[in-house]
Amino acid sequence: LLSGCGKKKEEEKFVIGFSQCVASDHWRRTMLDEMKMELSLHPAAEFLYTDADGNSNRQVKQVREMLKQNIDLLIISPNEAHPLAEVVEEAYNKGIPVIVIDRKTSSPRYTAYVGANNYEIGKMAADYIANVVLKKKGSVAEVMGLPGSSPAIERSKGFTDALKKYPDIKIKFQVYGNWVRAGAQKQMRQHAAQLKTVDAIFAHNDVMALASQNVLSELSLGSKIKVIGVDALPGKGAGLELVGNKTLTASLLYPTGGKEAISTAFAILGNRPFTRENILQTVVIDSTNVQLMKLQWIRISNQQKDIERQQQLLEDQLEVYDNP
Ligand code: FRU
Repeated sequence: LLSGCGKKKEEEKFVIGFSQCVASDHWRRTMLDEMKMELSLHPAAEFLYTDADGNSNRQVKQVREMLKQNIDLLIISPNEAHPLAEVVEEAYNKGIPVIVIDRKTSSPRYTAYVGANNYEIGKMAADYIANVVLKKKGSVAEVMGLPGSSPAIERSKGFTDALKKYPDIKIKFQVYGNWVRAGAQKQMRQHAAQLKTVDAIFAHNDVMALASQNVLSELSLGSKIKVIGVDALPGKGAGLELVGNKTLTASLLYPTGGKEAISTAFAILGNRPFTRENILQTVVIDSTNVQLMKLQWIRISNQQKDIERQQQLLEDQLEVYDNP
């Protein structure tokens, strides 16, 4: 009987490795918070976490290290699609389940994917700009993410494909801002002359959308050109606030999938049924629905605080119970 109990406990102590491509921005901090929240429901699990700081070579090495540490499952957001394909395949071929989150590799050898459809995001941005912002006529610029990262490739493909339906909308220029503020700022300044002929900008995330808007203000083009971003995160200085105060015209919600990645991980590890392609929903946030979104976020975060308070109360009571 005793050995039976011991065995059950051992089975539940799973080691999950999470290889993050970059950790410093608000979106990825939110992803990690969501993961930790879900992990708190599985206290026996061990969570190994690495941050590649935007460097694909470093991420390959970090995954190799994790594989040596005998992880039971790998969650990875690959910095770039090609450089990470081999090591992810290596893990998969060893029989370690692999959950790919947000960014993908160029290989189909993974167990599950969690994230929004980035092609659809690009397409929705194009349709919104064409119909709502430009009324089917005008010029646009695109500020893309990192060249080899899958959301940049897919968002751009969706955007350009969808714009083909609108013959009077022209793409004036496309630049890579590499997902970061400095990258977008530099490119916008270099394209100052061309910016004067543009009516709207689609930036692949809100960080680059804000950087573009700041350069437009420097050039006194701030109110003339409409800027649309992606992510629509709650929090100080993030997308929802930027749409709310009209710094950005709109942002497309891009859920992080942190919670879903962890729940999928435990379904796989527990041999329960799971979905291979977990496609998270997206929506355009603009002045018509931003207040509603903000109110919903406040409600959710208040409920979260209530849950944390209840957990604390429970722990306190257990302590009293254990030490009468
Ligand atoms: C955060 C981020 C997001 C973007 C995503 C794409 O690191 O740049 O802003 O939506 O990564 O992978």
